[in-house]
Amino acid sequence: MAINTIKWKNNRVILLDQRLLPDKEVYRSYRDYTKLALAIREMVIRGAPAIGVAAAMGVALGAHWVKGKNFDREVERTFTVFAKTRPTAVNLYWALERMRRVYAEKRSQGVDSVKRHLKEEAQRIFEEDIATNRLLGKFGAKLLKNGSHILTTCNAGALATAGYGTALGVIRAMKESGKQVDVLVNETRPYLQGARLTAWELKKDKIPVTLITDNMVGYVMQRNSLDAVIVGCDRVAANGDVANKIGTYMIAVLARKHKIPFYVACPTSTIDPKCPTGDGIPIEERDVREVTHFFGYPIAPRGIRVLNPAFDITHHELISAIITEKGIITPPYSQNLRAHVRHS
Ligand code: MRU
Repeated sequence: MAINTIKWKNNRVILLDQRLLPDKEVYRSYRDYTKLALAIREMVIRGAPAIGVAAAMGVALGAHWVKGKNFDREVERTFTVFAKTRPTAVNLYWALERMRRVYAEKRSQGVDSVKRHLKEEAQRIFEEDIATNRLLGKFGAKLLKNGSHILTTCNAGALATAGYGTALGVIRAMKESGKQVDVLVNETRPYLQGARLTAWELKKDKIPVTLITDNMVGYVMQRNSLDAVIVGCDRVAANGDVANKIGTYMIAVLARKHKIPFYVACPTSTIDPKCPTGDGIPIEERDVREVTHFFGYPIAPRGIRVLNPAFDITHHELISAIITEKGIITPPYSQNLRAHVRHS
């Protein structure tokens, strides 16, 4: 079943509004790149690879609709605006870097040519992302036995990518290869990507899924009812530390305690060799109302002090393997990630 997270159509970017799922499937059309950038910040589209694709299409969109004489200054502005949307997922900067390279290489051919090349590059990033997910899915599926019970968190599915998904890509590939799989997803407070998005995607694909609250993870692990944990990620540091949705670290610690393999699935565009350890990964802090309110209804005393980091860091020692489109990376990560990136 195809989920159209994002697409380029008639020089506009179309997004499925993820804030309204699972209740309503509403598509929004963007012609103004500043509104598309706001849509990334406000989670109309989210998930590391999807953010990268949206930013790439956003630059192409900005360039296409430039008004006025100063084309170069306007395009430069689009790069700046998208770079400020969400700081943690490195796929955003990776995609902008690719767009910048095309811009630099093709600018001398004139405005019309560079606009066309930017659109083509954005479309390539989109298509490559789907192909990448399918490949990593196949590698991951081989790690897991028929009949596995798997826990995933947040949403690392078709909605978080150009399509198919990373962690959910592995689960989809298991099903396609004829393996039975049963998924557990925790709701993922405060934004509920697990309950609203992952449960929706898997149910649509007829993959068995059970929803639990975040504080039930220890209980299900204690009952011996899990074979593996698979999560997506927003950035992998050079030493193998991983940034992913807040709560991932807690799950990884529990998985280690219960001797359950903990896998991270991501494209190589999520690996950041320039970031030595997880300590260097910027963690996005989001609006406190995501914590103090539930669909607009206050659930905490007014004025209470609140923390709302959107991601946390899972130390590389807790990770059994990292699954990418190039294969499976196992410890020692410093060494093996370097070799993996060199060959990509
Ligand atoms: O805040 P979000 O919804 O953008 O966070 C998404 C995640 O943490 C995903 O697990 C990650 O981006 C990987 S998506 C393939």
